[in-house]
Amino acid sequence: DKGGFEHFMLKEIYEQPLTLEETFRGRLRNDHSEIVLGGLLDVFPKLEQAGRIIIIGCGTSWHAALIGEYLIEEYAQTPVEVEYASEFRYRNPVIGEKDVVILISQSGETADTLAALRLAKEKGATVLGICNVAGSSLARETDAGVYTHAGVEVGVASTKAFTAQVAVLTMIALQLAKRKETIDAETYRMLVKELSETPAKGRLILESNKKIAAIAEKYKEAVNALYLGRGYLFPVALEGALKLKEISYVHAEGYAAGEMKHGPIALIDDNLPVIVVAPQDAYYEKVVSNIQEVKARKGNVIAVVTEGDTGLHEMVNDVIEIPRSHLAVAPLLAVIPLQLLAYHIAVLKGCDVDRPRNLAKSVTVE
Ligand code: F6R
Repeated sequence: DKGGFEHFMLKEIYEQPLTLEETFRGRLRNDHSEIVLGGLLDVFPKLEQAGRIIIIGCGTSWHAALIGEYLIEEYAQTPVEVEYASEFRYRNPVIGEKDVVILISQSGETADTLAALRLAKEKGATVLGICNVAGSSLARETDAGVYTHAGVEVGVASTKAFTAQVAVLTMIALQLAKRKETIDAETYRMLVKELSETPAKGRLILESNKKIAAIAEKYKEAVNALYLGRGYLFPVALEGALKLKEISYVHAEGYAAGEMKHGPIALIDDNLPVIVVAPQDAYYEKVVSNIQEVKARKGNVIAVVTEGDTGLHEMVNDVIEIPRSHLAVAPLLAVIPLQLLAYHIAVLKGCDVDRPRNLAKSVTVE
């Protein structure tokens, strides 16, 4: 049931404030004093002692993993590596009993991710899952885990599962940091509060849907697109590009903004839309100079900015505003306009948004 929406994908994008609330339910204390992850209680000591955490996934789940890496290293100070399941499983990785491996999968049935799980287990690592489907193979075979509670995701392009995965990773990072005492009480409380505010802020972003549809109309003929972001928003740029390519068949690349000058800058001309995730955070000045570099080469910039940041409005072609937030929770918000932009471009191109060609919801073959 599409609940009155034209496509499941749009419905699922709109569900995100609710699914985030579901993911936080019973886990974020109202007074922001604690994050309770029941499924991990027994294994938290293992996580605290882990010499290294390896996060594994495919596609969108791999993008969530990258955000998890930044969060866990920043706040919990545990070294993290992120791997594609399809690489990890075939490359004889060095891994042992001190390692904790976190596998992320919406479906819990992705063949490569399951093979990576079995390999890590065989080598003696503690294996944890972040999964959306209760009772899936991944949920059954991991030692412990956290469900994302995003509800059934029908659209092949993952949307609400991604934000739920990132929400879970953020909770794990903060709780691990608290237990390891690598975060001070005030910062912890502030970030738990920021997390709890993301559903309401997500609702505000959805109000820009019409505006984003109008932007899509301007760029629907583009044959290429470049997505840029820094820090926690670099994986969001990757995710924005993946959404566009999988449902609209427009070639899109996501890049860490600082990498632009090492190659992709050669692509920029007046035909190339460059989507820049540029909220006012620690990387703001750097991202603004990336925007100037794009503009100097006649690129068209669509910027995702902090609301009220009128300075950027004059510099770029189109803006989409998102509410101010701490940068650690910004991926949960900044990805929403990118999902909507991809959706509208695909609809305008007449693509089968919910069932894009050549793709399956759950990739059970290697
Ligand atoms: C992207 C997408 C795929 C999946 C990937 C992993 O929108 O849907 O890239 O993210 O196939 O699937 P799960 O998370 O089920 O293991």
